[in-house]
Amino acid sequence: MHIGFIGLGNMARAIIAGMRENDSFRNASIIGSDHNMDKRLELGERWGVTILEDDISVAMQADMLVLAVKPQALPVLFKRIIPVRKPGQCILSLAAGKSLVWLAKSLGTESPVIRAMPNLAARVGSSVTALCANDQVIETQKNLATEIFGAVGQAVWMTEDLMKAFSTITGAAPAFTFLYLEALTSAGLKAGLPKKMALEAACNMMIGAAKLVLKSGEHPASLIDQVTSPGGTTIEGMHTLKALGFEHAIHEAIAAVIRKDGSLSV
Ligand SMILES: NC(=O)c1ccc[n+]([C@@H]2O[C@H](COP(=O)([O-])OP(=O)(O)OC[C@H]3O[C@@H](n4cnc5c(N)ncnc54)[C@H](OP(=O)(O)O)[C@@H]3O)[C@@H](O)[C@H]2O)c1
Repeated sequence: MHIGFIGLGNMARAIIAGMRENDSFRNASIIGSDHNMDKRLELGERWGVTILEDDISVAMQADMLVLAVKPQALPVLFKRIIPVRKPGQCILSLAAGKSLVWLAKSLGTESPVIRAMPNLAARVGSSVTALCANDQVIETQKNLATEIFGAVGQAVWMTEDLMKAFSTITGAAPAFTFLYLEALTSAGLKAGLPKKMALEAACNMMIGAAKLVLKSGEHPASLIDQVTSPGGTTIEGMHTLKALGFEHAIHEAIAAVIRKDGSLSV
């Protein structure tokens, strides 16, 4: 069984690193190719990827073929690999906005196709990855994809119609979260905290708050209720955020991402 990666850029590197640190994939055969020599050397030497001559060689051998190239590179790639793909091969596409129907149609066969939308936190083993598959995908292929993304965080299967909203929260909202962290840090700085102390306090607070929601199973509204005492300080800050349209801004930002994604999707 060969797991092949075409494209060994940022996302492939994060996934392969996570796989190699996981018992299930420590000795797995991972093959790959990239246009760039430096990426090939790094992945080959550091993570035990068997580097093949090109995308065609990977497509000829891989049982699970991970397409880890930018979406705009797919049409050229398909022209090259369609004639040589290994029979029964499952395609695992990371490309944003490229639907299962578009992928299967472009591949020109009754191909088993899985779409995965990981996020940047794959680099630290904490991606929340949305996955969906077409009817040609069999259980063992689904299980393999679950294991691959389980090695870099959490794999969540869903129907394709939910991918857009889900991956907006997990894919675009990290940037919103960085913006919130930046604002908290500079507010802490303004209030007199050293920069590093303010940043670490903000990050750890965020991890703790998210853990509390997940572990307690309580709705955030109930936790807000628990931390806002009558006539207290936190309610003053909450009131200010609400008056300035904090929640509305987040709803609008998510809607804007979904609108833009819709205009780019096929
Ligand atoms: N990075 C993220 O956080 C993230 C999150 C979710 C999804 N994704 C998806 O993951 C995919 C990969 O993203 P990335 O950030 O890892 O991109 P990237 O860093 O640009 O890596 C892609 C690599 O693939 C190479 N490549 C392109 N066509 C090739 C071919 N036919 N044969 C061999 N190598 C080829 C590129 O080389 P050249 O540039 O020289 O052509 C580049 O080195 C994209 O579809 C993206 O939408 C990424």
